[in-house]
Amino acid sequence: MSARPVVVVTRRLPDAVHEALAREFDARLNPEDRPLTAEGLREAVRTADALLPTVTDKVTADVLSAEPRRLKLIANFGVGFNNIDVEAAKARGVAVSNTPDVLTDATADLAMTLLLMVARRTGEGERHVRGGQWTGWRPTHMLGTQVSGKTIGLIGMGRIARAVAQRAHHGFGMKVIFHDPYPPPPEVAAALGAEPRASVDDVLREADFVSLHCPATAETHHLMNRERFGRMRPGAFLINTARGDVVDEAGLVEALESGRLAGAGLDVFEKEPQVTQALVTMDNVVLLPHLGSATEETRVAMGMRAFENLRLFFAGEPLRDRVV
Ligand code: DGY
Repeated sequence: MSARPVVVVTRRLPDAVHEALAREFDARLNPEDRPLTAEGLREAVRTADALLPTVTDKVTADVLSAEPRRLKLIANFGVGFNNIDVEAAKARGVAVSNTPDVLTDATADLAMTLLLMVARRTGEGERHVRGGQWTGWRPTHMLGTQVSGKTIGLIGMGRIARAVAQRAHHGFGMKVIFHDPYPPPPEVAAALGAEPRASVDDVLREADFVSLHCPATAETHHLMNRERFGRMRPGAFLINTARGDVVDEAGLVEALESGRLAGAGLDVFEKEPQVTQALVTMDNVVLLPHLGSATEETRVAMGMRAFENLRLFFAGEPLRDRVV
C-alpha cells in the first residue's frame, strides 16, 4: 500500500473534520491552533502533498516558491481565497479549491444581523443596560431607524447576496436593488424581488442600506472610497461581510464623522485582526470579529467540503470546487 498523502492543516478545525482527515490522510493537525508563520507555510510547501489553509494564512508567491516543492493542492477552508496568490499557484501547477455554498446561509444571516443591529442600535442598547445606565422606558429613548420597507442595495449578486435579498425582501419587505457585472438571469432576480442597477453608483444613490458582497480582487480594492461614500444617500448605512479591503477604512471614518453615513456594521476589516481605532470609539458602528460563517454546522460543513476536495484530488478525480 502506498503512503497516504500528507495534508498540513493550518488551524484547529471541528472534531468531526479532524476525524475525517485523520482517517483518510497523513493529516498534520494543529490542535493548539497556533497560526503558522510564513516559514511554517514554506515548510508545508516542501513537505506536504496538500495544504488546508484559512483566511489567516497568507499563501504568497514567496511561500509557494519554497523548494523542493512537494505541494500539489491547496484546499482552502473558506469561499473567499484572497489569502492565496492563485496566479502563483497556477504558474507552479498547484491546484486550488475553496468551500462555496455551505456558508451562504450563515453569512447572509450575519449580514442581516449587522443590518438590524446598526439600524436598531442594539449594540449600543446592550452596552447601556450592562453599564447600569438604563433609567426606564421613555418615548424618545434610543430611537433607531426602521428596517421594514426600506431599500437595500447589494454590491455583487452572487450566492450570499441572493440569500440576503431573499431575507430582506421576503422577510422584511425591503426593496432590493443590486449591481453585479455578471448579473443573475432576470427570472432569478425577479424571484428575489431584486432589481438590477447599471452601476455601483446607481445603487449607492438609492439605497438606505448598502451591503457588500463582492470578492476581494485588484478591481474591488477600496471600491468603497471617499468619493463613493459621498455618493451614498445622506443617513445611509454600510454593511460589510465580504472582505475588509473592499472598504477604505479611513474614508469610512470620515463619512461617519461628518454624519454623511448614519452607521456601519462590519464583520471584516482592512488589517484584521487590527481595527481602525476611530471605529472602536463610535457608538453607531457595530463591530464583529469575522463571524460570517461561524456556526457549528457551517464550520463542520466547510471542513467536510475541503475534505471532499482533498479526497477527490488524491483519487485522481476532478475537484468539486476548483479555483485554479
Ligand atoms: C470565507 O469563507 O470566505 C470566510 O470569510 C472565512 O474565510
